[in-house]
Amino acid sequence: MYAVIRPLLFLFSAEQAHHIGLFLARFVAPLSRIIRWLVMPDCSRLQQELLGGQWAHPIGLAAGLDKDGSAAAGFAGFGFAAIEIGTITAHAQPGNPKPRLFRLKNDRAIINRFGFNNPGCQSASKTLARYHLPCPLGGNLGKSKITPNDDALSDYCQSVAALGPHVDYLVINVSSPNTPGLRDLQQLDALRPLIMGVQQAINELKRPVPLALKVAPDLADEDLQAIAELVVETKLDALIATNTTIARAGLSASSQTIESMGPGGLSGAPLQQRSRDVTALLARQLNGRVPLISVGGIDSAEEVYRRIRLGASAVQIYSAIIYQGPWLAVRMARELDRSLQRDGFSHVQQAIGVDL
Ligand SMILES: Cc1cc2nc3c(=O)[nH]c(=O)nc-3n(C[C@H](O)[C@H](O)[C@H](O)COP(=O)(O)O)c2cc1C
Repeated sequence: MYAVIRPLLFLFSAEQAHHIGLFLARFVAPLSRIIRWLVMPDCSRLQQELLGGQWAHPIGLAAGLDKDGSAAAGFAGFGFAAIEIGTITAHAQPGNPKPRLFRLKNDRAIINRFGFNNPGCQSASKTLARYHLPCPLGGNLGKSKITPNDDALSDYCQSVAALGPHVDYLVINVSSPNTPGLRDLQQLDALRPLIMGVQQAINELKRPVPLALKVAPDLADEDLQAIAELVVETKLDALIATNTTIARAGLSASSQTIESMGPGGLSGAPLQQRSRDVTALLARQLNGRVPLISVGGIDSAEEVYRRIRLGASAVQIYSAIIYQGPWLAVRMARELDRSLQRDGFSHVQQAIGVDL
């Protein structure tokens, strides 16, 4: 079916197609529980508890597709194990001028410099208060562009207070390349007080929720290892790796085409190798002490299985959905179940890290 829809969608600009996709997801939302029940593989082998919630299988929706949470119920219908909305910031902001989203079709890649366009945490909290999803819901939090890094903590804490009551887990996002200075918050001196301050804000919620951190693939390996240690030290509930990359390696598109698109984060197939390497590096460092969620260039059930065998407890996908359609997670889950069965694993958790 998506083979028919995709060429039509690709007639539109990338951002127009993005909005059409969101419209369709909102359209199916009223039927999402029934559709989910129909399509969801019932595989006890794949089910696990993660970030305090029950994941029906290990494939979740990555942040950025549903920035404001308005289509989350629809995406639940497409059978994702968990849905992460956002990035949400304390203040509403329009994001960068258009065009700011580009397809690199032959590379099965995307470049974006949205810059956290979102309605702000108060508005997003009203959206989320309207429904209760049939799967775990994550809220990915970032810093508003107008907020200087020195005040980042209070920005994140406002979002914690607004979104915390409506989500199952929260994510500190300090890894998007499109907000000036945001990635500087990944430096340990800035990151430690940020994590601890957000944890304090979460503890003030009526129902404290688990907290994860999402990191960039462009950090040096030693810095990633140091962050993994900090994640253990601060007792975070998961580490999510990786966000998009500012690198432009491994693209078949001409340098002129790539330059014409300008700056932004690259995602999809060209990110696969680095993201896989980062998964292995972090899994070795974490050594099972904190769950790892792998994201970046995952486009097949085989790659999902590989990431799990390299130490990921679960994965998230985004770009591959644009190229292969919204049912991808369900297809991946079915195939993953067959691979696990073939290799003699009675539960997915037995396969985590076997190739490390
Ligand atoms: C258009 C677009 C927008 C994104 N927006 C966000 C965002 O707001 N917050 C975030 O944490 N990650 C965002 N991401 C990054 C994805 O969540 C994911 O980490 C990255 O795309 C790598 O996965 P993929 O190769 O499967 O797309 C965005 C990605 C894309 C393609």
